[in-house]
Amino acid sequence: MEKLLVANYKMNGNKDFYQKASKIINKLSLTDTVVLCPPFVYMPFLKKSNKNVKLGAQDVTNVVNTKSTGQTSPAMLKEFNAEYVIIGHSERRENGETDLMVADKVNVAQSNGLIPIVCVGEKTKVSKLDVLAEQVKMALSKSAGAEIVFAYEPIWAIGSGEVPTISKINKALKIIKDTAKENKFNVKVLYGGSVNVANYKDLLKSDADGFLMGGVSNKTEEFIKILKGE
Ligand code: PGA
Repeated sequence: MEKLLVANYKMNGNKDFYQKASKIINKLSLTDTVVLCPPFVYMPFLKKSNKNVKLGAQDVTNVVNTKSTGQTSPAMLKEFNAEYVIIGHSERRENGETDLMVADKVNVAQSNGLIPIVCVGEKTKVSKLDVLAEQVKMALSKSAGAEIVFAYEPIWAIGSGEVPTISKINKALKIIKDTAKENKFNVKVLYGGSVNVANYKDLLKSDADGFLMGGVSNKTEEFIKILKGE
């Protein structure tokens, strides 16, 4: 099945990096959909000539109000060809982003034609997975009813080199999908957290509909191997 492969570049790279990386990625013959999410300021420098390459942002405002210093509106993101937006990444939640803000961002994104990629995940290796249902329910609570994607990102797996077992991933994905279904949503769910060239083939054996990738997306050569399935 066709996968959704998302690069979360976080606060990395520079103009030259994005110009080069997007040029190479656009030349690939891709069967999966690839979404490149650079920092806002670099969005204009990414090429998008391949129909399977899409652009995404790493955040969007939770209030549509021009008196919002430092915020970025969905219209601004769309002007630079964004189709997706990552919402509620754990690194933002750590900085004070609440479930309510996530819900507002989902509404703002969907109401303006952007597809949210909402990150959910438990804190530690031994944390219960109950938090997932709560986070999903909250994220959908103000949804405008349009397409939405979730990313299961166990916080302990992000950047740690550790990944959950396939059976744990599948259990988490089921909770997310079931909760979404109870709320009348059919959603795609990605896996994110230390996906790399060495483990991605194994992780593909899970029920995930694709990956959200941090570290490896900054190493274009390795990232391309994953996109090509090498
Ligand atoms: P990682 O990051 O791939 O570096 O673990 C994933 C993420 O934070 O989205």
